[in-house]
Amino acid sequence: MSDPHAAEKPKLSVLGLGHVGLPTALGFVELGFEVTGCDDDTSKVAMIRAGQTPFYEPGLDALLKRALASGRLTVTESVEQAVRTGTVLFVCVGTPQKENGEADLGQVEAIARTIARNLNGYKLVVEKSTVPAVTAQWISKTMARFAKPSNISGNPAAEFELASNPEFLQEGKALENFFNPDRIIIGVESERGRALLEQVYRPFKCPILFTTVCTAELTKHAANAFLSTKISFINMVAEICEAVGADVTEVAKGMGLDPRIGREFLNAGVGFGGYCFPKDLRAFIHLAHERGLDCGLLCEVDKINRRRVEIIVKKVRRALWVVQGKKLCVLGLAFKGGTDDIRESPALNVITDLLKEGACLQVHDPQAMEACQKEHPAQPGRLEYCSSVDEAARGAEALLILTDWEEYRRLDLKRLKELMESPIIIDGRNLLDPESVRSAGFEYVGMGRDAGAKRRPATAESAAQ
Ligand code: UDX
Repeated sequence: MSDPHAAEKPKLSVLGLGHVGLPTALGFVELGFEVTGCDDDTSKVAMIRAGQTPFYEPGLDALLKRALASGRLTVTESVEQAVRTGTVLFVCVGTPQKENGEADLGQVEAIARTIARNLNGYKLVVEKSTVPAVTAQWISKTMARFAKPSNISGNPAAEFELASNPEFLQEGKALENFFNPDRIIIGVESERGRALLEQVYRPFKCPILFTTVCTAELTKHAANAFLSTKISFINMVAEICEAVGADVTEVAKGMGLDPRIGREFLNAGVGFGGYCFPKDLRAFIHLAHERGLDCGLLCEVDKINRRRVEIIVKKVRRALWVVQGKKLCVLGLAFKGGTDDIRESPALNVITDLLKEGACLQVHDPQAMEACQKEHPAQPGRLEYCSSVDEAARGAEALLILTDWEEYRRLDLKRLKELMESPIIIDGRNLLDPESVRSAGFEYVGMGRDAGAKRRPATAESAAQ
């Protein structure tokens, strides 16, 4: 995407090179911008400078090599340098959650102080990290407090302003989402700031929504909370399907044909995880509670989601009777297919509970085993990391699918039946076709689609109806 406006492109700095910052920095370099990317993790900076990406994301390796070769990317651990070099500063630092679910904005505050202390001309500070509404007001207040007097008082060159430009990148599809976003949301108050961001996003053809900073901040939380609600809704329906003998995947298909509903994010399973949905949901709940507002709906969304782990462990018990000492094949550790990210992965919660029940796990994941071993070191005979599905299935009493990797949709059932001790598949992601699994001689247990399973008797009053 070459751009005739290359000359007047503003200099960009990306503060924080994680799952949001690195794709964002490399994406803008690819679009012809000069970008200074910084991160206070010196080992990460060294890796990136050496052309290695610190996490798995399809296509990111190649884009990094192109960016380094282009000469338009500077990677530094000096936030000061990045602040002084850029005009548009994208804040992409982590906003993890605190015990009480509140978003931990410590890294955002630290960056605000550093920016303030290094103002050397007009700066547009753009929130890209997911932050609660009104965070920009706090950043602004902090910067005004810490900006060196010489830089502010009466020196127009040292003006700064805040904008919000939430990202909607999905892990595993980050570059696809960056270059082909459904929409771009920009919260900015001044014409100057708006003009700058219009320049930055000129290469994009999707709708660009300009609004207030606070509204843009809230849009991100609302969007993630809504998608989480959609997933918990279909998981709640899955529970009802099991109780009455319906198939949730068919229900989702029927619902999804209504464009007002849409089929996307109606996949019942082990529940949502990852770095974003769980923490953004809790931060949104906290934001509402802090203002004395009832957020019952979202609390239920969280409750339904936490229940998914319990439900799948119950299915293992129901299939195996005694779990203690049983060898189980576990396919999937990442919070979803396409990433090596295990943060808040439902799969890890299932594994933890099964280990507590005394099961012996043989686990496999195409990308996330290295990250998982750091948190859950191998235990001979209890927790084994296997380099192939076959190795994980060998001698197993049951096979669990916990992450929706594409390759797990194409399992060699005949081979697995030969390798396993007993042919039981518990499909925590409804990846497989129950009929073909059953006709291959397996017991099949899905999430909300056990047409064959025993029905839950209707209560007296419903029976009386
Ligand atoms: C999410 C948002 O999609 C993205 O816009 C935002 O910028 C960051 O957070 P991500 O965390 O990468 O992206 O994951 P996503 O693909 O949204 O999946 C979130 C979780 O929901 C995963 O655990 C996934 O397995 C689960 N999920 C998703 C379901 O259980 N069912 C579905 O139908 C869809």
